[in-house]
Amino acid sequence: MSVSVTPTPFSTSVESFIGNTPLLPLSHAGANQVKIAAKLEWQQLGGSVKARAAYRIIRDAINRGELRQDRRLLDATSGNTGIAYAAILSRLGLPLTLFVPENASEERKTLFKALGAEVRYTSRYESTEGAQEAARELAEMHPESYFYADQYSNPSNWKAHYESTADEIWKQTDGQITHFVAGLGTTGTFIGTGRRLKELNPDIKLIALQPDSALHGLEGWKHLESAGSPSIYDHRLADRFIDISTENAYAAIREAARNEGVLLSPSSAANLSGAQRIASEIDQGFVVTMFPDDYSKYGSVINNLF
Ligand SMILES: Cc1ncc(COP(=O)(O)O)c(C=O)c1O
Repeated sequence: MSVSVTPTPFSTSVESFIGNTPLLPLSHAGANQVKIAAKLEWQQLGGSVKARAAYRIIRDAINRGELRQDRRLLDATSGNTGIAYAAILSRLGLPLTLFVPENASEERKTLFKALGAEVRYTSRYESTEGAQEAARELAEMHPESYFYADQYSNPSNWKAHYESTADEIWKQTDGQITHFVAGLGTTGTFIGTGRRLKELNPDIKLIALQPDSALHGLEGWKHLESAGSPSIYDHRLADRFIDISTENAYAAIREAARNEGVLLSPSSAANLSGAQRIASEIDQGFVVTMFPDDYSKYGSVINNLF
């Protein structure tokens, strides 16, 4: 799985900071025979779950000869994927161009700049779809200068989770996992992890979470009915869908800070809320979810909650 594109000693060390995240046991109000736990995904290069997809996208493109010193990686992102690309590519010495909706938080803008990414801002009214369109146009105009990574359509995204996240969960639960619960953004986490878990044990239930409305504060999630499904998404995989409100996620941020000692991002807290709901409905089982990132990029949300 290793990548080496530059002679720096750092290039070989990227992989050791991707994946292999701890599984944190959590408390819940359900039956004694029910366990619930979450993967601490912020403990990776770039500080989020997207390290897995970004690394695999970059590695596969380098191996195919599509990403080289003379070709910039180009993608649309509103946050974590861009930060993960920037962190990994700065270690590999390769250039990056991101298209980002202009209403991205100041924390994110500062991180992109600090990590050396070239950023082009697109209209806030067109969301990440507008950023995708602009990135696609630039790649079509200058195919020799850019590798358009297209995280929403790139199979390396879900394969990253198929080959790492699912096997980690399987080992960390000694094969005892009964339910996997995760929110949908690009859908790479849910599709890749879910596909592999079903192969390991077809009885494992896959629960997909979505924001309860098109206008929501669950950064990283998509409301698929209004935003449209990414092409890597497979609507047949989920056994069940649950809608989570932003208010529930905010309440779960408070609760996790007091009861578990972790400061969560809105989407991590929304995953916790979904996992707790499943735990409350069963008599025995092992519910696993993801904590994609922590509070640190969401200062304004956190400051208003406490
Ligand atoms: C904070 C956060 N949560 C959840 C997700 C969803 O993950 P995925 O894109 O794998 O569906 C993302 C994706 O960018 C994210 O940044």
